[in-house]
Amino acid sequence: MAALAQELTIGEVARRAGVATSALRFYEERGLIESSRTAGNQRRYSRSVLRRVALIRAAQSAGLSLTAIANALDNHPDGSAPSAAEWEVMSSQWRDDVERRIDELIALRDQIASCIGCGCLSLAACGLLNPDDRAGSDGSGARYLMGGEAL
Ligand code: FES
Repeated sequence: MAALAQELTIGEVARRAGVATSALRFYEERGLIESSRTAGNQRRYSRSVLRRVALIRAAQSAGLSLTAIANALDNHPDGSAPSAAEWEVMSSQWRDDVERRIDELIALRDQIASCIGCGCLSLAACGLLNPDDRAGSDGSGARYLMGGEAL
């Protein structure tokens, strides 16, 4: 019976974690958190869910997808929460992901800058339409019109 006192209702988790109950149900549907059910089919969460929800929110703030977060939590399929050391490793990897996205956004910004005042919308010349010169590597001629991939 003492173990039950350690369990939290969905309302308690929502209040303590600062998220809506609908968010908790969504996280659970996506496999990010788990609950047990009472005889009356009400959700009960272990206290470790608070740390998992905090981690999920932090990761979302860093722009990670729920899939990426779920992958990170795969090492804790029992619903336990990552330790401080594990969180340090995760957040370090996510920092690297953020830096990679910053680099991609800077490149995108520079490509957009070349479009400002241009107006060509050329499949061959515009970096936004052909970022890796895909058309050029497919051969000469009107590749998109011939291959069915129209503008
Ligand atoms: S519109 Fe001309 S380079 Fe993008």
